[in-house]
Amino acid sequence: MRFLALSLSVIAVCALDTLNYGAFTQTATYSIANQLGFFTAYELEVIYQQIPNSTFAYAEILNGGYDLLTGTLDNCVNLRFNSNKTVTVVGQLDQGTDLVLAATPNITSISQLRGKPLIVDSPVSGYAYLLRQVLSSYGLLLENNDYYFQTVGGTNLRYADLVAGKLPNGTTVYATILTYPFTAEGEGLSSAKRPNVLARISDFVNPVSSTALTVSQSSIGNSNKTNIITRFVAAMYAANLYLQDPTKKNCTLKAISRQLNVSSTVAQLEYTAATNNSSGEVGVGGNFTVNLQGALNIIGVRKKFGGFSSLSPDFDFTSALVPGHGKLIDYSIRDAAIKILKRDLLRTTC
Ligand SMILES: *[C@@H]1O[C@H](CO)[C@@H](O)[C@H](O)[C@H]1NC(C)=O
Ligand SMILES: *[C@@H]1O[C@H](CO)[C@@H](O)[C@H](O)[C@H]1NC(C)=O
Ligand SMILES: *[C@@H]1O[C@H](CO)[C@@H](O)[C@H](O)[C@H]1NC(C)=O
Ligand SMILES: *[C@@H]1O[C@H](CO)[C@@H](O)[C@H](O)[C@H]1NC(C)=O
Ligand SMILES: *[C@@H]1O[C@H](CO)[C@@H](O)[C@H](O)[C@H]1NC(C)=O
Ligand SMILES: *[C@@H]1O[C@H](CO)[C@@H](O)[C@H](O)[C@H]1NC(C)=O
Ligand SMILES: *[C@@H]1O[C@H](CO)[C@@H](O)[C@H](O)[C@H]1NC(C)=O
Ligand SMILES: *[C@@H]1O[C@H](CO)[C@@H](O)[C@H](O)[C@H]1NC(C)=O
Ligand SMILES: *[C@@H]1O[C@H](CO)[C@@H](O)[C@H](O)[C@H]1NC(C)=O
Ligand SMILES: *[C@@H]1O[C@H](CO)[C@@H](O)[C@H](O)[C@H]1NC(C)=O
Repeated sequence: MRFLALSLSVIAVCALDTLNYGAFTQTATYSIANQLGFFTAYELEVIYQQIPNSTFAYAEILNGGYDLLTGTLDNCVNLRFNSNKTVTVVGQLDQGTDLVLAATPNITSISQLRGKPLIVDSPVSGYAYLLRQVLSSYGLLLENNDYYFQTVGGTNLRYADLVAGKLPNGTTVYATILTYPFTAEGEGLSSAKRPNVLARISDFVNPVSSTALTVSQSSIGNSNKTNIITRFVAAMYAANLYLQDPTKKNCTLKAISRQLNVSSTVAQLEYTAATNNSSGEVGVGGNFTVNLQGALNIIGVRKKFGGFSSLSPDFDFTSALVPGHGKLIDYSIRDAAIKILKRDLLRTTC
């Protein structure tokens, strides 16, 4: 009996809590946390759920299908301010890493996009507004039908379609917006398949607050959920500090390469992009603080193209960005995660 009780308690100690993690892309920070065992160190089993499109993803976060997701901040801004949806940003992960307008090999200049479709997640998503900003600099306006949008889905689907040169229904693909890790993966392809980077978004809007750690407001204060999410954010925080440490470069490269199943050459390109201090995953104060200017910039672009038409013209975006309970940004989980940082993880070897 005593022996049985002992084995049961050992099992109980080892039991991992499950966190359903929705993500559009596998960031460098996630790759480190996952490959180097940081989630396990926080007694978590993280189930990576590939997000097919933003409509689906934000419904899942609100109905509890996902416990946390990483997606671009604009989605939360849109849902909060335009639709009163209680999505909450726990922190910012990146500033639009490797965010580019990419085209098929035949398209070598933005002017060639005249009359063509651009594939997007949603025509009213933040990335679609960023595309409108870039194309408008070349005199191409959506409202003049100089080009048009086709709704396809998240970045992974769009990258696959761009490389294939066509949608699953056979429609020719010309261009889309890409982000980490697909921009560098594209650079690793043979010249016949390699997408052309027509523009870097950071040359038009900079900084861009992009990937945000996002939860449902209802999971803050619900002690079990809050606890599990806090441990996830702590593991990601440790991984982000690891990413910032140049002496850990070789292990980081290995983690990226294994997570994405890419060559060491491509992993090096991914590393360079992720560690860029103005557009990567390390430029945000090192603790997931939202870059206020980056947030105001995406709000500005959305506003310019009518993406806040239902709001009063004197809506105060700056005060709506002030963090707090029940607000768009709530740092309570982030602050608790920093307090439970396991410093020994920062010395992990591989
Ligand atoms: C989004 O994904 C869901 C789930 O896969 C799918 O049912 C839906 O049709 C997709 N929506 C769009 C607009 O592609
Ligand atoms: C959102 O909620 C606020 C306060 O509860 C209310 O004044 C506003 O009309 C709501 N907006 C929408 C779009 O539902
Ligand atoms: C791309 O260019 C090649 C060679 O000029 C041509 O054969 C092909 O049809 C073009 N493809 C598209 C999708 O325009
Ligand atoms: C192919 O799919 C795209 C994206 O869903 C759609 O916009 C387009 O109309 C479809 N084309 C045909 C011929 O069905
Ligand atoms: C937390 O988990 C315990 C044990 O599984 C359960 O009894 C309790 O109801 C949960 N609390 C909340 C707030 O979900
Ligand atoms: C990283 O790997 C390179 C080449 O494999 C090696 O020369 C270098 O010493 C390693 N650096 C560290 C910090 O381990
Ligand atoms: C990893 O990539 C290689 C080469 O592209 C491929 O053969 C292999 O099937 C991939 N493995 C996985 C698990 O996707
Ligand atoms: C970092 O990214 C910015 C914006 O894309 C770019 O201008 C800069 O050259 C990059 N820095 C390095 C060191 O690659
Ligand atoms: C970012 O990196 C550049 C080039 O390495 C450096 O000059 C600059 O001081 C860094 N900026 C910050 C905010 O760390
Ligand atoms: C996060 O980093 C910023 C910038 O370095 C700093 O001002 C702030 O105090 C930090 N917050 C926490 C909770 O560590």
